[in-house]
Amino acid sequence: MLNPLVYKRPTGGAVDGQGPAGPFGVCEMALERGTSLERWTSESWRGKPIQQAPAYPDAAILADVEKTLSGFPPLVFAGEARKLKKELGEVALGRSFLLQGGDCAESFAEHSADNIRDFFRVFLQMAVVLTFAGSSPVVKVGRIAGQFAKPRSAPTETRGDVELPSYRGDIVNDIEFTPQARTPDPRRLLEAYRQSAATLNLLRAFATGGYANLENAHRWMLGFVQDSPQSHRYQELADRITETLAFMRAIGLDAERHQELRATDVYTSHEALLLGYEQALTRIDSTTGDPYATSGHMLWIGDRTRQLDHAHVEYCRGVRNPIGLKCGPSLKAEDLIRLIDALNPDDEPGRLTLICRFGSDKIVDHLPSLIRAVKREGRRVVWSCDPMHGNTITAGGFKTRPFDRVMSEIRTFFAVHQAEGTYAGGVHLEMTGKNVTECTGGARAISEGDLGSSYDTTCDPRLNAEQSIEVAFLVAELLKAERGGLPQQARAAE
Ligand code: TRP
Ligand code: MN
Repeated sequence: MLNPLVYKRPTGGAVDGQGPAGPFGVCEMALERGTSLERWTSESWRGKPIQQAPAYPDAAILADVEKTLSGFPPLVFAGEARKLKKELGEVALGRSFLLQGGDCAESFAEHSADNIRDFFRVFLQMAVVLTFAGSSPVVKVGRIAGQFAKPRSAPTETRGDVELPSYRGDIVNDIEFTPQARTPDPRRLLEAYRQSAATLNLLRAFATGGYANLENAHRWMLGFVQDSPQSHRYQELADRITETLAFMRAIGLDAERHQELRATDVYTSHEALLLGYEQALTRIDSTTGDPYATSGHMLWIGDRTRQLDHAHVEYCRGVRNPIGLKCGPSLKAEDLIRLIDALNPDDEPGRLTLICRFGSDKIVDHLPSLIRAVKREGRRVVWSCDPMHGNTITAGGFKTRPFDRVMSEIRTFFAVHQAEGTYAGGVHLEMTGKNVTECTGGARAISEGDLGSSYDTTCDPRLNAEQSIEVAFLVAELLKAERGGLPQQARAAE
């Protein structure tokens, strides 16, 4: 197979630390921290082994597209990524909570304002439940505006006697099972950039333009969720918020003059899988001189691409964004420490989020040893729970996730942290605002037989709006129990 990533770009030897960036705007910075003394550039990953790279048939078209991308405006700004890192630093220290969620994979076909709005509504509801019922500030990070690429367990898929490349997400190829659709097409990178920009634009408008105003807490409820147990619970909470706001207004604190009541910050994140795309969108921040990925605020490294000496870790160690690292059952404590050394040599709180995805039956066997190793080394990380990816099963011909297992992994995650004296810092969810039937269970007890009625995902099964709100209420309870629901000062004085 043709591997486009062995393609050498015609940089004319520009990567010498002198002079202007190469023709593709290669960003350079010598990293002399921690254990690795190797020079980092935004393209140094190209010299490393790589997993999960699509086999583009035409390297010249790919190079051309990457060159075009490298001239486009950044999607996010370095200052925003720094702000998120600071907020995640508060999460690492147990003073705030991370809510990260969105589609397994965004799709080109379903890029509509309604979809984005419906996701945003549910996400706001969850955030407000956690903030109010959990008495904790919440850092809101969507798996959105760039979450397109999917790692796959096999490079090809066989149906009958036809073998074709696996579907790797709309940014790479099309899901239809024909040779043409499945051939990776670099032009899809440009479409993903365009869609990300449009999505981000709408998110920013929603977050700051009035929609996210706490006065609207009642209006975020989606029509189809009404009259469910979750909707009643949520309406009650929204009533209390409305009452609180009326009181605040009476004493002179109103949303017109206080933008913390009127607006919120929603950040974007995705798996940094396609490093050519990430490289093309890497920029040097003019205020600090540091390189940042500008494709999204936070990037994570997948469980399949986290080899210490491979390309994905190489790219991520050099950009200064907050970084996530997926931690599955195969991760050994000593390897985790090496990865922390590589990715967060300065022990900057908020730089690294460990996103744990073990499965409800495996978490107790794996999480405690990782936590102990991190404690022993005195490293500051955010511990987040992905209760989705370790709990995927096949039932009735559908990939699904039993809601009970999702809830169970979250409960165990909190219990383990409680026992170890560390903070359960966040959750990482695959969810949608649409009324889908992809995960079984929940208050409406979706059965295996119901899965076919509204199964829309092109990738992994997502929590629907009701199930998402139910998770938020559970997490709020656990959070309150963990942190005692005490105000900041009381905790700070401990
Ligand atoms: N600005 C605060 C925050 O983001 C409060 C807030 C405003 C809020 N709108 C919100 C909280 C919507 C949750 C959801 O936390
Ligand atoms: Mn997924």
